[in-house]
Amino acid sequence: MDQESPIEALDAIARSVDEAFAAARDDNDLRQVTARFTGRDGSLTKIMKRIPELPGPERKPFGQRVNEVKGLVERAQSNAAERLRSEARARELSRPALDITLPGRRPRIGRIHPCMRTMHEIIDVFTSLGFDVAEGPEVELAENNFDRLGFPPDHPAMDMHDSFFLPSRRPGDRVLLRTHTSTVQVREMLSHPPPVQAIMPGAVFRRDDDATHSPMFFQLEGLMVDEGITLSNLRGALEAFLTRLFGAGVKTRFRASYFPFVEPGAEMDVECLICGGRDPHCRVCKGTGWLEILGCGMVHPVVFESVGYDPERYRGFAFGMGIDRLTMLRYGINDIRHLFENDVRFLGSL
Ligand code: DAH
Repeated sequence: MDQESPIEALDAIARSVDEAFAAARDDNDLRQVTARFTGRDGSLTKIMKRIPELPGPERKPFGQRVNEVKGLVERAQSNAAERLRSEARARELSRPALDITLPGRRPRIGRIHPCMRTMHEIIDVFTSLGFDVAEGPEVELAENNFDRLGFPPDHPAMDMHDSFFLPSRRPGDRVLLRTHTSTVQVREMLSHPPPVQAIMPGAVFRRDDDATHSPMFFQLEGLMVDEGITLSNLRGALEAFLTRLFGAGVKTRFRASYFPFVEPGAEMDVECLICGGRDPHCRVCKGTGWLEILGCGMVHPVVFESVGYDPERYRGFAFGMGIDRLTMLRYGINDIRHLFENDVRFLGSL
């Protein structure tokens, strides 16, 4: 038999299109079938090369016919694609809705953050000693953060509180992220007549960032005001508290210190449980063997005046402790930043 003429060959291609696409079972087949017609080595691509075999006047109609067949291929291809889609949908719908043979995904159980665990334990200790729990806002007026606590304007003590000030909505208001929970003492006294016996936990913010300081950390404030409160009530409360938290053997010391809102003022240190006082290069106690965990003192009469309490009649003690510091000591963590990097492998191990 003679070789097929280009025209016969083209007709044969046209006749084979529908059947070829009908045989496609998936997207991959579909690509291959399409390539067989219009790919680089496809039959329609190759047949164009046979145009020179035709007499001149037949060439143009032949080219048009090739284009028509390409159109056929495109339509057949999109019909087949639609057919594959609806077949896949039908298969999906006829499958059982839930494959109970798949292995399950175990839900990850969250845990309470170590700082919050410490905080809840401290709250338990103080509530059992008769303290109420109060809270105040993290965005605070400078008036409550400094002025009513007896910080004179431009007092150097304010350097320690290098602070995050915020734009205020009311002109004249100085607004900041509170630098300590002592603000809540002010709020408690402004809103309650004496006696007051409360602890006030919460987040506080300072421009600090190193192994023992984080720009956001947690404090717990304490305040007890009544007639006849003395420094020994303060020591008693703090010692009861530390014994409950660390056990009876832990060493502590009381040092005179200055805070504008107490007189006398003191700081309390706990022995460095990270290095046991043995590492002169310890980054937590800086080689001193002690870690400061709280400030405290007898409430200054100036504070009583600023909240409308009678300083002649009432006495009080106050303290403010760093919950993160206590957490570091309890769990032997040597860098406060580990607590806030939120690496669950670390936090989960505590
Ligand atoms: N507010 C102080 C601070 O953040 C800590 C403090 C010291 C709180 C003495 C007190 C106190 O209530 O009496 O550094």
